[in-house]
Amino acid sequence: RVATHAGGGSARKRVKHPRAPIVVIGGGVAGLATALAAAPSPVRLLCRAIDGTGSASALAQGGIAAALDPGDSPLAHTEDTLVAGAHHNNVAMVRWLCAQAPEAIAWLQAQGVVFDRDAGGALKLGREGGHRVARIVHAGGDASGAVLLRALLAKAQCAAHIQWRGGLDADALLLRDGVVCGVRAIDGQGRQHVIEASAVVLATGGIGALFACTSNPPGADGSGLALGMAAGARTRDLEFVQFHPTALDVSGAHCLPLITEALRGAGAHLRDAGGRLLMEGLHPLGDLAPRDVVARRVWQARRDDGRVWLDASAITGEWESAFPTVLAACLKHGIDPRHQPIPVTPAAHFHMGGLAVDGDGRTSVPGLYAAGEVACNGVHGANRLASNSLLEGILCGRRLGAVLAATPAAAGRGEHRWAERGSVLAVDDLSRLRDLLWQTAGPVRRTESLRHYLLQLMAWPAQGWQARLAQSLLDAALQRHESLGAHYIAAPEMDV
Ligand code: SIN
Repeated sequence: RVATHAGGGSARKRVKHPRAPIVVIGGGVAGLATALAAAPSPVRLLCRAIDGTGSASALAQGGIAAALDPGDSPLAHTEDTLVAGAHHNNVAMVRWLCAQAPEAIAWLQAQGVVFDRDAGGALKLGREGGHRVARIVHAGGDASGAVLLRALLAKAQCAAHIQWRGGLDADALLLRDGVVCGVRAIDGQGRQHVIEASAVVLATGGIGALFACTSNPPGADGSGLALGMAAGARTRDLEFVQFHPTALDVSGAHCLPLITEALRGAGAHLRDAGGRLLMEGLHPLGDLAPRDVVARRVWQARRDDGRVWLDASAITGEWESAFPTVLAACLKHGIDPRHQPIPVTPAAHFHMGGLAVDGDGRTSVPGLYAAGEVACNGVHGANRLASNSLLEGILCGRRLGAVLAATPAAAGRGEHRWAERGSVLAVDDLSRLRDLLWQTAGPVRRTESLRHYLLQLMAWPAQGWQARLAQSLLDAALQRHESLGAHYIAAPEMDV
């Protein structure tokens, strides 16, 4: 069996494997967890960045939610997840996730992750929006994602069954008899590489970078979602995009530093341009109300009065250890958050929707699997609870890896076809598209403008894959007439 042939599409090298590798696309926590758990099956891990950086996991500040306190329980974690998700969640998946969360923390510790502890040596538990109790563990303060990723990357790099391939952008899936059995990827020099696979896992992250303001890295552009859709995989809940209320309001920038919700958990408050408390009287949880509620309030206040500020000056003493990432980002932009208010804006943060998968990560196309943000198993419902995303990436990745290790390759032998992602939008068109999605499908949506811009988008002369993805999102948003979770439809007469 041809495992690799590289270089302008021509076969250069032929390597025999007893079994074609499992190809995992994406080097964030979901991809790494899948790859590690697939042992001893051979895994080829493809990543766009040469050095494996660039995933949204590396930017995650929030930590991991797990019911570890004696006064807490997986049931309470389940209830909070369901409330945040507006009960649109897959309840069985939520129960499983919350029950497995303490074990996920233990597994991460076994992989070398050192979580933050209090003065008495117990795991420090923080609080974020939508959680009734403190149940979030952090590593390196607000650098949790980066710490996790470093540990998993180190494990993957010395795992004999994993072969790392950086600098490759997967742009097509190979199907035989309707079964996905390979990937085509382009390297930095424009050369094509074809890799046959016993299974392909998309772990490519979300779509935040398709919006004008995002807390995600530029690579979170929905490419894996577009690839899966090109292969005919079913999607689910595409309309549900979470907007984080507090990204650093840096004018003109697209990918913005996140200002973690844990700051509000530690006592920071949002204030309007006049210095008034922004969330007062709006929700019983105040500054820690669900993200969609806070994001809409910030969106509205920015539109009405100009800037919105996060006042974190009451947090003393623990900046360097608890919030090193926020501190560094603010100082880089000339703001000292210990003494000065931080200007904030909502930003596209997390896609609850994606490729529809079952609990084991199977898409509707045989041979094609998905894990992490690109996948939708329904666990987050209409709005993800804070600090449940790294948890999902780890647990679902490990579950999928174990399933793949036990699954014989399903590749057919007949005619092959390529499912291609398609051409890339020109830079100017992409920038227009981001503005359009931000205004139309951002924290506040209106049916008329969804309809208007969907038609406009369909008439665009340049139909790159990003534009097709945006059409699917607007279309899904139009199909859901009522507000639910992060999908908020303003009434026509409402001034929001
Ligand atoms: C945050 O730190 O505010 C984000 C956490 C998350 O997205 O779960």
